[in-house]
Formats: sequence, C-alpha cells, structure tokens
Amino acid sequence: METNQVVFLNSFISCQISDSQLSKNVITQDQLYKRAPKRIGLFDSGVGGLSVLRHLVSVTQSEALEFVYLGDTARCPYGNRAQGEIALFVEEIVSWLTSFQLDSIVMACNTSAAIAKGAAVKAAARVAGVTVFDLIEPTADWLIANPPESLGVMATINTAKSKAFSRALTARGYAGKVVEIGCPKLVPLIESGRLGQASCEAELEAALIEYLSALTGVDGLVLGCTHFPFVADRIEKLVSGKLKALYPLGLKLVDPSHALALQLLGLDAPPVVATAPNDYQTSAFKIYTTGSAVDFALAAASCLGQDLGVVSQLDVAELVAAPRELSKKVARSSTASLIPQSVSIDVTTSPSFA
Ligand code: DGL
Repeated sequence: METNQVVFLNSFISCQISDSQLSKNVITQDQLYKRAPKRIGLFDSGVGGLSVLRHLVSVTQSEALEFVYLGDTARCPYGNRAQGEIALFVEEIVSWLTSFQLDSIVMACNTSAAIAKGAAVKAAARVAGVTVFDLIEPTADWLIANPPESLGVMATINTAKSKAFSRALTARGYAGKVVEIGCPKLVPLIESGRLGQASCEAELEAALIEYLSALTGVDGLVLGCTHFPFVADRIEKLVSGKLKALYPLGLKLVDPSHALALQLLGLDAPPVVATAPNDYQTSAFKIYTTGSAVDFALAAASCLGQDLGVVSQLDVAELVAAPRELSKKVARSSTASLIPQSVSIDVTTSPSFA
C-alpha cells in the first residue's frame, strides 16, 4: 500500500492514508473557494510553522490561495524568551505581514499566541479586513467536541508555563486532567537541519524519551509547538515500541493544524488530506527568514522531506523598519505593493504574486 503522510482525523486517529482513500471526503474546490480566505500570512520563530503551512496546503490543494511565510530564525527559539520581547517581535512581524494585503494572519507559533495574541491583533488592526488566527483556541474547540479522558501537551517552556491550552479547555468546560510540559531540547534539534542524521536522531530520541516518560497517564497528546508535528512519527514509534510499557493503551496525537484548518477555511467537517503538497516552488508561496536563507532551506527540507524552493532573507533591521514604511505606504495608496520596499531578496526573480 502506498502511503502519503500522517494525517489527523476524527477522534484522535492518526493514520496513514492510501491513494484509494484519497478520493473520499476531499473538499471540492468549489466548496473551498466560497469560504477560504485568498491570501494567508503565517509566522513562526523558525521552520515550525511550515507544519501548519503544509497542512493547509494539503487540505486545500488550491492554486487560488497564496501564502506568505516568515520564520524569525535570527531570533529563534522564542520558547524561553521574556514575554515583553516576544510581544515586541510579534508586533514587528505582524506589522510587516500586513503590507502583503492579506485576508488572514495565522500565528503559526503557539508560544507567540500564548504570550502575545493581543499584540498581534493590535498590529493587524493597522489595516482593515485582516483576521488573526492562532492554533490554541481552535484546538480547544475541537478537543471539546472530541474529548479525551486526559491530555498531555508538549510545548515550549513559555507555552507550558502560560497554561494557555488548559485555560482554553477549562473555559470551555473541560474537566479532564491536562498536563503541560516544556520540551526545550526539541526545537534546536528540529531547526538544526540534521533531522534524519544518526547523531541528531539519537539526541532526539533521548529527549523524546525524557519528555514522554514525564507524561504517562494521559491518553491524548497535543503537539503544542508547531515544530513538533515534524517528529510525530518518532513519538508514535516510541509509544508503540520502547515506551510501550508506559503507554499500554497507546497515545492519540493531536496536531493543532487540523483544528486551525477547519476554523480558517470555515469547514464544518474535517477534510481528509488530499495529497502531500507536491510543489512549494510556485508564485503562490513567498517564504522569508530573518536568518540565513540557506540554513532555513536546509532545515525546511529536513523537516518536509522536500525542497521548499525560493527562500528570501529579510534582515531583522528591515523587518523592524517595515511598520514605518507601511504606514507611509498605506496612507498614500490603497493598492500598496505586495512586497515591502525594504525586503532584500537573495534570488534573481522578484517575489511578487503573479
Ligand atoms: N514553533 C513555536 C511554537 O509553536 C516556537 C518554538 C520556539 O521558538 O521555541 O511555540
């Protein structure tokens, strides 16, 4: 059986789907076009938010959608930074993103959402008609409709400390146990570009064993950092293998991208992933990093298992300057260029939307 990728369906079932299953339950392009935002911005501290982008692209398979992604790799990780610092970064990034005339901005970084959702909403309000989404609220909604008896949340130290997931669940009446743990060793390994290499895999396994051993006694596990879906297969292998004695009943993984996709696209029923995205190298994708474009592309490839295509480098200084550029530009014209003036591009083609 040829499998495509791990997807998360109803009732916490994570599974491999076959080609024969792909034709069923896929949202039609007509249904999607009516409800989906057209241009979507996403941001994360690094490559983690690409797990969200990958999921959205898998679900929609729509050439009518355009995506702008910023990974703030120069300042990654956010997971143990001060709250005020994260709020400032979020304000800078969202202000920059608003110059792309987006319909929606996805905080594809749960640390940012846990700490600074308000800063994102405030910055997005600079321009009319942009809705800010995070992954925590939709996940809590989805979990209430599909409640586990008890739940673990693997996240960054900041997200775990904020108790953002348990607060969102409690506010919706969830009465089960929620255990949130910080897993600071994972993001640097996932960002390293060495996923799949023996030395990295050994470190990763040791870290996952440490964290999963601290979480026993839960039957559902939220991947509460957007980097973590990239190691979901390693978690599943440990739970059904080396750690089976700790998890005799298994552990049902929840990827928040799924709930986000439902909310963002305005869908009632969970769509089945159509196919793995096959091409990020089209004009529908604008990918930026504040770090090295080469390192970002390498890390992305090691996570996605495929080449991301063009990555443009944006200096933090230029990102920070963007809000001033933007306010001048928006004041002057309602048809501002899609590309902020200050962006430096390390490729020969100009990254404007076709
Ligand atoms: N991927 C991010 C999250 O979901 C942030 C990871 C980090 O920078 O520590 O929290």
